[in-house]
Amino acid sequence: MPKHFLNTYDYSRPEIQALLDDARRLKESPYTKDLEGKTIALIFFNNSLRTRTSFDVGARQLGGHAVVLSPSSGMWALEFEPGVEMLGDAEEHVSEAARVLSRYVDMIGIRAFPKFQDWEQDRKDTILQAFAAYSEVPVVNMETITHPCQEMALAMTLQEHMGALDGKKFVLTWTYHPRPLNTAVANSALMIASKMGMDVTLLVPTEEYVLDERYMSIADGYANENGRSLSVTTDIEEAYTGANVVYAKSWGALPYFGRWEEEKPIRDRFRHFIVDSQKMAMTDGALVSHCLPMRRNVKITDEVFDSPACVAYDEAENRLHVQKAIMRSLVS
Ligand code: CP
Repeated sequence: MPKHFLNTYDYSRPEIQALLDDARRLKESPYTKDLEGKTIALIFFNNSLRTRTSFDVGARQLGGHAVVLSPSSGMWALEFEPGVEMLGDAEEHVSEAARVLSRYVDMIGIRAFPKFQDWEQDRKDTILQAFAAYSEVPVVNMETITHPCQEMALAMTLQEHMGALDGKKFVLTWTYHPRPLNTAVANSALMIASKMGMDVTLLVPTEEYVLDERYMSIADGYANENGRSLSVTTDIEEAYTGANVVYAKSWGALPYFGRWEEEKPIRDRFRHFIVDSQKMAMTDGALVSHCLPMRRNVKITDEVFDSPACVAYDEAENRLHVQKAIMRSLVS
């Protein structure tokens, strides 16, 4: 197993399955002593409800505890570029912060969203990679430009409801949102569904909403390895027809990073990409989910979200169980 949990693509499919199996055991027997006397530092550069709570509760259920740090309040501003003359706002370099934290804690979780100005810069995942490089203890990605913990919870939830995922049709649909959002969950959903042997369809309003080539290529590689498919369409009927899973997410178009006022009129034309009963009727009795938080009746209608087809609450719960499996694998 890798030292850090940064991306699921660092793990083989059997390694991912072993973590999922362990998460299932932890769901049945939640309390252990795997983290007894151990601490995880949770560094949130961005807001959170689920991630913050589930890591904190998960660490306690394993006998350890969490320290939550928020760089925006109560922590020194950090510099991430190597070799710079530090004359800006940052008082401390990540090389010191990561090494010092490593003397206090046993794991470090990082949430650091893109800055949404320059995708070429954001796609370097600078903050996560810097902590991973300088930390002497395992680092966990709590969502940066991917969201591997969400991937694990999604896979666990689908396996709970459907059993083996091979050959099932997974539709990742872009949905409208008034603001451009991170592509992390979309990148992650695409990769984990392909990795677990599903036939994946990416439904986008225009070609400009296709995800970064890095993640398209990884997902395509998994599809080839598994003898499955990865397809992209702008046709709602084609995507939904025969689907077994509909996964809803909104994201900003990569070509418009830093020029969001130009993207807005494009996204405003596609409010009809909402997941609703008419579209779900085209599926093969599909499950529907979302990582949350979610704007009701913008991304998914109340009728669909509050129906038995929706497994989003299970997915949110399973964040707790998969993260406990990840934490105990990293300290073992
Ligand atoms: N899905 C998820 O990561 O939720 P939070 O942003 O609330 O942590």
